[in-house]
Amino acid sequence: MGRTRWVAGNWKMHGSRQANRALLDELVPGVSQLRGVECVVCVPFPYLGEVAGKLGGAPIAWGAQNVSEHAQGAYTGEVSAAMLAEFGCRYVIVGHSERRQLYGETDAQVAAKFAAVKAAGMTPILCVGETLQERDAGKTEEVVARQLGAVRFEEGVLAYEPVWAIGTGRNATPEQAQQVHAFLRRKVSPGTAIIYGGSVKPQNAGAIFAMPDVDGGLIGGASLVAKDFLDILKAAAK
Ligand code: PGA
Repeated sequence: MGRTRWVAGNWKMHGSRQANRALLDELVPGVSQLRGVECVVCVPFPYLGEVAGKLGGAPIAWGAQNVSEHAQGAYTGEVSAAMLAEFGCRYVIVGHSERRQLYGETDAQVAAKFAAVKAAGMTPILCVGETLQERDAGKTEEVVARQLGAVRFEEGVLAYEPVWAIGTGRNATPEQAQQVHAFLRRKVSPGTAIIYGGSVKPQNAGAIFAMPDVDGGLIGGASLVAKDFLDILKAAAK
């Protein structure tokens, strides 16, 4: 209550110039009718400029899905925070579990990326979350506390994304999400938005967003389907 509601789409490595245009053509008028929810789309690097151009003036912010922890230099294939900021990018997902798991990103790297995003004047969306093995071992709180504690977290968006719920169709129950969100809430400043991610769909968004410490969602698969993403935004706007 009183905190801003957020819904961010994480397109991951999906899209094409044509598909992006079609998606945004549907999203912009839909989002324009909504009140009380911040909408962000996090797009693959090559599309940032075009998406920025298309969204100029629309109530949808755009962001990136990753960033280099370095300011500049001989880092082939990397993209700096300053480069993103130059495109008007306002958000950057940091520490997504796919980055941690598939690309070996460590807590220390995630912390450095978080700091780089802040230094460039953008807002990091920090992802934390446990694997199924860690949950079954009763280590959920220990893991998310470690991941959050590694970062000097202030003024960002925090996303709780249980790894076992991402792209699996198996979302955390609203109560499971609430439990971890309430735990995280005690570790961040009162105004911090804590959003949930992991198989959020139009069918379950309302129940998850109704939890007192859930301020919205980070949406993967369903953010690629305009109607689904809009329905999820509507559930958050209520
Ligand atoms: P999903 O992905 O909604 O497809 O489960 C969420 C995420 O990885 O951010």
